[in-house]
Amino acid sequence: MSSDSPNITSLELEDRRFPPPDDFAAQANAREELYAEAAADPEAFWTRQTTELLTWETPPTQGVDRSNPPFFTWFADGTLNASVNCLDRHLETRGDRVAFHWEGEPDERVDITYRDLHERVCRLANGLRARGVGKGDRVAIYLGMVPEIVVAMLACARIGAPHTVIFGGFSPDSVRDRVVDCGVTAMITGDGAWRGGKLVALKANVDTALEGAPDVHTCIVVRRTENEVGWVEDRDVWYHDLVADQPAECAPEMVGAEHPLYILYTSGSTGKPKGILHTTGGYLTGVAATHRWVFDLKDDDVYWCAADAGWVTGHSYIVYGPLANGATSVLYEGAPGTPDKDRWWQIVERYAVTILYCAPTAIRTFMKWGVEYPKRHDLSSLRLLGSVGEPINPEAWIWYRDTIGGGTCPVVDTWWQTETGNIMISPLPGVSTLKPGSASRPLPGITADVVDGEGRSVPLGQGGYLVLTEPWPAMLRTLYGDDDRFVETYWSQYEGMYLAGDGCRRDKDGDYWLLGRIDDVMNVSGHRLSTIEIESALVDHPKVAEAAVVGRSDETTGQAIAAFVTLKGDVVGDEALIAELRQHVATKIGGIARPKSIVLTDDLPKTRSGKIMRRLLRDISENRQLGDVTTLANEDVVSDIAGQAEKARSADSG
Ligand code: WTA
Repeated sequence: MSSDSPNITSLELEDRRFPPPDDFAAQANAREELYAEAAADPEAFWTRQTTELLTWETPPTQGVDRSNPPFFTWFADGTLNASVNCLDRHLETRGDRVAFHWEGEPDERVDITYRDLHERVCRLANGLRARGVGKGDRVAIYLGMVPEIVVAMLACARIGAPHTVIFGGFSPDSVRDRVVDCGVTAMITGDGAWRGGKLVALKANVDTALEGAPDVHTCIVVRRTENEVGWVEDRDVWYHDLVADQPAECAPEMVGAEHPLYILYTSGSTGKPKGILHTTGGYLTGVAATHRWVFDLKDDDVYWCAADAGWVTGHSYIVYGPLANGATSVLYEGAPGTPDKDRWWQIVERYAVTILYCAPTAIRTFMKWGVEYPKRHDLSSLRLLGSVGEPINPEAWIWYRDTIGGGTCPVVDTWWQTETGNIMISPLPGVSTLKPGSASRPLPGITADVVDGEGRSVPLGQGGYLVLTEPWPAMLRTLYGDDDRFVETYWSQYEGMYLAGDGCRRDKDGDYWLLGRIDDVMNVSGHRLSTIEIESALVDHPKVAEAAVVGRSDETTGQAIAAFVTLKGDVVGDEALIAELRQHVATKIGGIARPKSIVLTDDLPKTRSGKIMRRLLRDISENRQLGDVTTLANEDVVSDIAGQAEKARSADSG
């Protein structure tokens, strides 16, 4: 990161405001007072949260331990079990309540109550123990979105075996890297998974992966797609056979608050994936509290987090947060366009979903598909909408609120990371006046700042680097097996501050506007420009669904802005439209932001979790050798974009 020109220039003006509806504010779980209470004594505040929200075997007497920074601990002398907190303690009061309305991609539905889930978890936990898996052993889970993925996570938690979930779309090589790095000895997978009408051959991938991982002694296989699978005697066992004779009760392993709950790998733009380590007591406190505040969870809500359980959003807001709070959730196996592009809206209508949480990439896809699909269904049950994973363009935010939320639902734009464990910066829906594109401010108990290259807080109205300035309960504890990299990556830039790696601006009210990854910031004629504002200006044009911009070398301006644009529905693009779009950006935010080139493309390269891969677009724009594309979801768009980028470049230089 260079410190020569520390501030990120901010150009955009977004002045739409949405105060909380009175009736929403009147019934909200989280009130304004929470901020003041937390600020007065953050440690006491979090201790109160953990006491009220969790069931401890031995309640902690300690809060945060700061004796060995940045290796902070929370509630270290307490003991508990995560699966007991998610299941057992609900049995008496809500055993027959639905934990998950599960819907398969082919037309299939199962309602799973808390009692059912408890029984399934106990049987699998016993089965794992029967295979010699115990406290501290690492278990990899590689499954699609079937109920067993939740069961597997909780069964591991029950016996104190940290899990590492590997997203079901990863290749054998990615599976092997994670299994080896994590020292995994047992795996839980499936014969296959359904995704977009296609069968994903999970077991075949595992077989290839495990050729390079001889320490895995057990591979438990869920039958889902009933395709033929290879079999390694002694190592492989069918899930249904393993659990068939196991008792429906299983004594939980009580663990210290700092016992590892899971390791989740996250691939940054460079280097090998980082194994983010989360522990038990602090993590569970953070996800339970934030799930209650941000989503305003009530007893009669039907909550749907449409992420994949293989990402942190699934860990925190499909599994641990909602279950700790005894919520009723929807769990959907498949793709949003299968069999038709209204699948999500059919699901919302069927279960009368009240809270929906998803990613901007999904919202922009729905915008591209058009309003006819949501219009086919009654979405009036919805009362709150959430967004996560990328900055959300104001036009996408407005579309989400109007088209999906009927013009009345608050939209909570939640900023956080795999590393932070829980939502960190977000509106409280009954308190905050919403601004499309802003994540509002840090949640109660969380402290952040925006700093320049020297770590000095920048004045309101300016951009800089987002940092977190105090430890919080759900923070990552280290990178698995690599304390040095943990310190180097997050704690070495500024003394005593966690570097998030995102650019950010605070407006004059102190509200936070996330500007994208620091690595993506462009430098045009000495102005450091963030990607999101220019992309949002493009998405603001009525014919545009999605846009990505990157900086490419330019003799005159240092970097020039290269834009990649996806148009809505049936819009046909031509030179005139490209000229119009360039002018639109200039009119909206200024000549400095006018893209030098625009490539129209049917799709943008995305990571498997749906984030735009600007690094790749940068490579294409600079006509460099393409970098590593193995984490790309849609590899075929790349060659298409590359061809068009080449054309755009020659037109531009001509
Ligand atoms: C980005 C996902 C803007 C950000 C929970 C962060 C966001 C990275 C937002 C973490 C948001 C996530 N606004 N940017 N509301 N939410 N991000 O680890 O760049 O998959 O650092 O965790 O996503 O991604 P991760």
